[in-house]
Amino acid sequence: MSTIPASPQSGGKISIKTLHSKKLRGEPITFLTAYDFPTAVALDRSGIDGILVGDSLGMVVLGYENTLPVTMQEMLHHCRAVARGASHAHLVGDMPFMSYQASTATALRNAGMFLQKGGMDAVKLEGGRDRVHAIKAIIAAGIPVMGHLGLTPQSVHQLGGWKVQGKSTEAARTLIEDALILEDAGCYALVLESIPTEVAQLISKRITIPVIGIGAGMGCDGQILVTHDLLGLFDRFTPSFVKKYADLFSEMERAFQEYIADVKERRFPSAEHANSMDPQELRDLIREIEALEDEFNPDDNLPTRFN
Ligand code: KIV
Repeated sequence: MSTIPASPQSGGKISIKTLHSKKLRGEPITFLTAYDFPTAVALDRSGIDGILVGDSLGMVVLGYENTLPVTMQEMLHHCRAVARGASHAHLVGDMPFMSYQASTATALRNAGMFLQKGGMDAVKLEGGRDRVHAIKAIIAAGIPVMGHLGLTPQSVHQLGGWKVQGKSTEAARTLIEDALILEDAGCYALVLESIPTEVAQLISKRITIPVIGIGAGMGCDGQILVTHDLLGLFDRFTPSFVKKYADLFSEMERAFQEYIADVKERRFPSAEHANSMDPQELRDLIREIEALEDEFNPDDNLPTRFN
């Protein structure tokens, strides 16, 4: 039996305050990514707490090798679609590579666009102590910021690949320090990606803002996954921390192959998928066509009425 409510959760919009209360109550916070309208509607109806329009869209929707080519325009385009579909969930727009690194002024301007043009409630950006200046400026403008530490995909080349972070004492200490710095800077929540469970748990206990984990184990205040991974819609690779709840890529291929076969074998469209004419209208039409054929003048190849 399905446990999914048939309509959006009651109780209005999930706010930062709601997320903080959940952490205080020890109630797990649920986040997933979305990049389009139907997914946003489905997530909202399912009762998700938050939706991240992640720059992961570059890989799972746009087919880029990594998240680095994603632009502000692409992000805002997808944010708007998600905002049209979700009225309940807390919405976070992911700031793409080079939209906040070059200068605080650029960071502030681009962060503002996510709320003003993208319909988001907050922004997320990657990095620790090096980003404090930009984060403080964005928050001072009234824009909530979610931090992101650990495996930060926009630094994939600097990190030397998609590797688990914070495994040594020193690396873990740096992560913990960065988490405290981001909390102190005013971030309202923090994503921890691909770090040991123990380190994520230590951070979640030490800081008061909600910690949302991805590949960071059970000790976080909430969890997030890339929806295309969870649905089995991205067939290039699946990180080991992902639990696949469906295999929609195979299902999509099956449906496409069935359609192609149906068209080739003339099984589609059958009568139930076609429109037909009122029989009397059809009889009148045939009579008209037959009369037209009678008037046809074979010498000039045109019906006489067109001469
Ligand atoms: O872009 C994204 O989807 C993310 C999540 C993996 C946290 O940053």
